[in-house]
Amino acid sequence: MARTHWRIDDLPWDQFDRSKIDPDIIPLIKAAALVEFNAHDYTAYLCNVFHDDAEFKAVAQDWAVEEVQHGQALGRWAELVDPEFQFEEAVARFRAGYKVPIDLEDSVRGSRSGEMIARCIVETGTSSYYTAIGDSTDEPVLKEICRRIAADELRHFKLFYTYTKKYLELEGLNRFQRLKVALSRIGESEDDELAYAYYAANAPADSVYDHKRYNAAYSRRAYGRFRPKHIDRAVAMVFKACGLTPHSRLCSVASRGAWWLMDRRTKRLIAQGA
Ligand SMILES: [Fe+2]
Ligand SMILES: [Fe+2]
Repeated sequence: MARTHWRIDDLPWDQFDRSKIDPDIIPLIKAAALVEFNAHDYTAYLCNVFHDDAEFKAVAQDWAVEEVQHGQALGRWAELVDPEFQFEEAVARFRAGYKVPIDLEDSVRGSRSGEMIARCIVETGTSSYYTAIGDSTDEPVLKEICRRIAADELRHFKLFYTYTKKYLELEGLNRFQRLKVALSRIGESEDDELAYAYYAANAPADSVYDHKRYNAAYSRRAYGRFRPKHIDRAVAMVFKACGLTPHSRLCSVASRGAWWLMDRRTKRLIAQGA
């Protein structure tokens, strides 16, 4: 596998159009840049968990190079939009306050296939998120960055899904166990990582981190960008990772339910003025 599928310098930076930026998107991009850039910490964790799988460890190293590039591309766009934003300083602030559990030798998911399923869920989330962000903006450079990142995230999903199948053959998790891992990882999307990244990237230097406040600020700006088609695709990917049939009747019921929950949450956040 090539180290990356595209280069930051190949992006259409000369087409940057400040007049087409929705100000609410800027703090989201700054926060996303930090989370993406931190991928090496996850590689260290994955290399601990899969210490005897040399092939997967090499794959994980290449994966991280792509994720770090996502962070650099988003960070560069954010610095272009807001010259006061210092990407490296924000990264340092994020790392000082948020730590990935990299010392663990066993997966926090209880099994190796569970770990792979959790990775599939993360890639499902990122590929649908960047598609939704890209669809919601008319700024040409950001649109192209999101298009390329979303394509990478979909490839990452396929990659982790390949190893999910390998470890499922060894460990034999059933669909219920797979679904349990998937749902628990989905539930973690409102944990500290994104909220803290939002704080580190956007809050004034003297402000104190408050999970509820920054999680709401992030979620209110992010969730409203999703449309039913993005949720449909994400739910189909979750179904696939869990060994359930995507594009089935059950899948469309789940997708309508997920959309209803997200729409309700978005409306509440807007009403609260988060
Ligand atoms: Fe990424
Ligand atoms: Fe990814």
